[in-house]
Amino acid sequence: MGYPHPIHPKETPLLSEYFGDVAARSYDGWVARGGYVALKQALAMTPEAIVDVVKASGLRGRGGAGFPTGLKWSFMPKDDGKPHYLCCNADESEPGTFKDREILRWTPHALIEGCAIAALAIRAETTYVFIRGEYTEPCTIFEAAVREAYAAGVIGENAMGSGKRIDVVVHRGAGAYICGEETALMNAIEGKRGNPRIKPPFPAVSGLFGQPTTINNVETLAAVPPIIVKGGAWYAGLSLSSPKSTGTKLISVCGHVQRPGTYEITMGLPMQELIFDLCGGMRPGRTLKAVIPGGSSVPIMTPEEVAACATDYEGIAAQGSLLGSGGMIVMDDTTDMVYQIMRLARFYAHESCAQCTNCREGTAWTTRILERILRGQGKMADLDLLLSLADNMTGKTICVLSDSCATPVVSGIAKFRGEFEAYITGARAPAMAEV
Ligand SMILES: Cc1cc2nc3c(=O)[nH]c(=O)nc-3n(C[C@H](O)[C@H](O)[C@H](O)COP(=O)(O)O)c2cc1C
Repeated sequence: MGYPHPIHPKETPLLSEYFGDVAARSYDGWVARGGYVALKQALAMTPEAIVDVVKASGLRGRGGAGFPTGLKWSFMPKDDGKPHYLCCNADESEPGTFKDREILRWTPHALIEGCAIAALAIRAETTYVFIRGEYTEPCTIFEAAVREAYAAGVIGENAMGSGKRIDVVVHRGAGAYICGEETALMNAIEGKRGNPRIKPPFPAVSGLFGQPTTINNVETLAAVPPIIVKGGAWYAGLSLSSPKSTGTKLISVCGHVQRPGTYEITMGLPMQELIFDLCGGMRPGRTLKAVIPGGSSVPIMTPEEVAACATDYEGIAAQGSLLGSGGMIVMDDTTDMVYQIMRLARFYAHESCAQCTNCREGTAWTTRILERILRGQGKMADLDLLLSLADNMTGKTICVLSDSCATPVVSGIAKFRGEFEAYITGARAPAMAEV
């Protein structure tokens, strides 16, 4: 659903309150809506005090891994005399994920403010915002907002008259999914090929330009200003389920629902209510078949798992999958699971940086075997071969792109094995032509 859309009573519009409100994009419009009050407050706080508020809020990274944000910030060294950097990850290339772009295009000043506060917390003067290359409109809007923020003096060499320097630099990506991985992102900003780096050293020790660096997702940083103004305890209280999953979450829902779009929910909303009440459920006459809840890299869920699931980190993990980025792909009974899993594998094969053998070869082999099955030329042994390949692609490479390719294959075979077997036995006609 586009913006503005009528807010459903089960939505919690905290970050999305002004999505669709064109006037909120400008500096004056943002200030009129309470903008930059949080930054003013943070400029009067010590870095430790800012970190403590964010720790108390329970905010966890919204980019995929769900790492506690305040804890991540506390890893940055103190009094080391080195320049520190903040990287904002606006690469958003995970299939099914399209929520960060709404922040960039509707409330760019919320992100600038969040970046500025996070920079203060980690003692950085410069933030690099790495924006997905294809995000032309969001990037143009965000760059205009950065220029306005400099002109208004809220950022720059004397941010809000505080004597503190806060710079925000926009860096556009060039269209590679791998550059969303945090160390590949740093290489890309440095002008190098976007290959992930081996960890350790972790970015807080040696990151961008070899200096201590923190990397956070757009949504994570945009959540910081309201936390500063309303307090950590207030944010921690926003939960319908687990005390380990606090606040709100933007969920971008795509696929076979009647109203796809980006919805902001309180952590813990039953997934069934999200899909059926907010998104209007399936198309007429159709039933739910499967959900990939956290961007394409997480295990596929069955309708039974969805029915029992709270939409938060713990609730989805309890059903064997992950909240990930919050990019939800919903599939109805018309979906050919083998074909969709092949499409995902093909994506990962295309996007592998080819640095690690298991990923470079594994993603390509996986794709070719799935294509062979879809052409009606598969063997029963191919299913074991796929699982064996997946095992060799999991936990054995520098980054988890390889694991991400294996995940839908493993969960797909476990939960929809009959569909694979139907292509192999010939019970189902080939879905792909011979090459
Ligand atoms: C292949 C790959 C792609 C990724 N793409 C993104 C992305 O587009 N945006 C993002 O925020 N995080 C992405 N991540 C996760 C980042 O490496 C990192 O964990 C995140 O930016 C940290 O921010 P957070 O703690 O605020 O979530 C990706 C990870 C991998 C392995």
